[in-house]
Amino acid sequence: MANSPTLTATGWAWGRGLIQREGLLRGTGTALRALVDLGLDYLPSRKRLRYGDIDFDFEHGVNTTWAAPTLAVRLRETFTRGKYQPSEPGLFRRILDELKIDHGRFTFIDLGSGKGRTLLMASDYPFRRIIGAEIIPELHEIALNNLKRYRSERQKCFVLEAWLGDAREFPFPNESMVVYLFNPFPADVLGIVLENLGKSLATLPRETYVIYHNLVHEGVFHAMPFLKEMQRTEQYVIYRAN
Ligand SMILES: C[S@@+](CC[C@H](N)C(=O)[O-])C[C@H]1O[C@@H](n2cnc3c(N)ncnc32)[C@H](O)[C@@H]1O
Repeated sequence: MANSPTLTATGWAWGRGLIQREGLLRGTGTALRALVDLGLDYLPSRKRLRYGDIDFDFEHGVNTTWAAPTLAVRLRETFTRGKYQPSEPGLFRRILDELKIDHGRFTFIDLGSGKGRTLLMASDYPFRRIIGAEIIPELHEIALNNLKRYRSERQKCFVLEAWLGDAREFPFPNESMVVYLFNPFPADVLGIVLENLGKSLATLPRETYVIYHNLVHEGVFHAMPFLKEMQRTEQYVIYRAN
């Protein structure tokens, strides 16, 4: 497990990175815009949006909505350039139902797993094991708690793990994998994560599928020759690794 840097250290690293990438003037402008945007999220109209999907939590006795994140979580979201928003259960199940695989041979991995909702939903399928990787410690802690509290008569996999750290440092296990990405990263981070996956598969080839949900940085996948598109909808693409 990676050490989690303090909020202040993460903030400084974010500021330094912005200035390196964009220069002092533009970088400062981007930082100010991001912080103003964070402030606007506290307006009642925007807050209301975040309470839209509480049914899953009531049904299973967990906390996975994106309602009322603390200021520390909001700041870390800004600094890591990713935002927590959980996958919608109906669509998630439709996506997993598309995969005609022998689940027991596969490890399900959610990179950017937030409070762990997908880990819980994936456990309704008989995967060999399930791993979530999340960079924000506060969300990781909630995920650990959710893994303990989840109850579902449909649960078929009981080996669930939450890994705290940057997905760019995630050690892909030497197992067949279903890797799920709900648009968790900006393009540069996504590129590094996919390159790491490619290197891991080149070292030890194994049957692997990558699901990209919410097609914001799809171009990054086009630059990964080891990924072959298997199925496409407007909301997600399933790739098979060659
Ligand atoms: C859109 S949410 C998806 C949550 C979950 N996968 C789901 O579908 O319900 C993206 C998550 O990725 C996390 N994230 C962003 N950058 C990350 C990184 N470099 N490493 C690990 N997690 C990251 C965010 O903190 C956030 O919780």
